[in-house]
Amino acid sequence: MTHLVDEGRFVDMPEGTSAPAILVEGLRKSFGPVHALRGVDFTVPSGTVLGLLGPNGAGKTTVVRILTTLLEPDGGRAVIEGHDVVHAPAAVRRNIGLAGQATAIQPELTGRENLEIVGRLHHLSWPQSRQRAVDLLERFDIADAADRPAKTYSGGMQRRLDLAASLIGHPAVLFLDEPTTGLDPRSRLGMWDVIRELVSGGTTLLLTTQYLDEADELADQIVVIDHGLVIAAGSAEQLKDRVGGDLVEFTVPDRTRLADALAAVSGLSEGDPHVDQDAGRVTISVGVGGSEALVDAVRRLDGAGVATVGMSLRRPSLDDVFLALTGHGAEDESRGRGGRRRGRRRRGAERRADTT
Ligand SMILES: Nc1ncnc2c1ncn2[C@@H]1O[C@H](COP(=O)(O)OP(=O)(O)OP(=O)(O)O)[C@@H](O)[C@H]1O
Ligand SMILES: [Mg+2]
Repeated sequence: MTHLVDEGRFVDMPEGTSAPAILVEGLRKSFGPVHALRGVDFTVPSGTVLGLLGPNGAGKTTVVRILTTLLEPDGGRAVIEGHDVVHAPAAVRRNIGLAGQATAIQPELTGRENLEIVGRLHHLSWPQSRQRAVDLLERFDIADAADRPAKTYSGGMQRRLDLAASLIGHPAVLFLDEPTTGLDPRSRLGMWDVIRELVSGGTTLLLTTQYLDEADELADQIVVIDHGLVIAAGSAEQLKDRVGGDLVEFTVPDRTRLADALAAVSGLSEGDPHVDQDAGRVTISVGVGGSEALVDAVRRLDGAGVATVGMSLRRPSLDDVFLALTGHGAEDESRGRGGRRRGRRRRGAERRADTT
């Protein structure tokens, strides 16, 4: 039997399971009238990666700030490696590393100086800090730029330097808040490699991201939050299964025929088809046995005399999951907050109400 030690309390854990590295229960936080977190629960087993997904303003950074002791919750509790974030913040800090959404780099200092100072803040001696800085600069491929001011670094280099700084204290649990936002595709892949290496070394990781492929690639478990509530949780595959099997997709170049196209395929779709009016793109969920549905869709559209392009059959992506759950795609959200989005949001709210 293992025990989760929590501020002197022992909690019995089921045989064969170890205490979670992160335990979050009923977490609540408001900023004035804004209810940023409205009761968030999840656990992260030791040595695994949790992907925390959600649109802008969902509450991701608020969760990270509470778990890293930068912010006190209004209610609920959070325990990191057996230490409560409110009652034992110093013990929590000894166990964690954080690379926040905005980097914590001092721009006037060189990469090396930045790391050495963080080492000193972690109570390493000067020689230890110097050695740790050398090791990390090497590991994150910034040794060549070690003695240049950090403000001259590219965005990708600054992210790597920030991640290096978060690892100075050999944290058991690492928090990365949107580690690859703003990076070019090559730098993102480089960052993924670094993250995979950390996890293979046993580090527990909580990662927030707006890139669903990133969560798909890196996370063992995914928690989707929206408006401060968990709206879905599970592995990427489990979430994809929730969308309901395969998807048939096609574009109707002549927008005036969209309604005819929808009428033609409506019998095939499990649930309402999704229509992107601007692109003339129709997505229908066809359950299992998708290839038959694909042929059927082609026949029906032919029969109705509707021309289509780009007819395809595919497995749902996490983007589809997001769309089904929130009523809008992850990327729509990052493009801005226009009236169109609010319209979509309303539909999403209705859809959510339907499924609960
Ligand atoms: N210090 C604060 N004061 C007032 N409101 C805040 C504060 N911090 C966060 N909020 C609000 O709480 C909500 C959740 O914010 P949070 O930063 O956690 O979202 P997020 O999911 O990280 O979003 P993003 O994807 O844009 O980073 C938002 O409505 C935000 O405006
Ligand atoms: Mg954030």
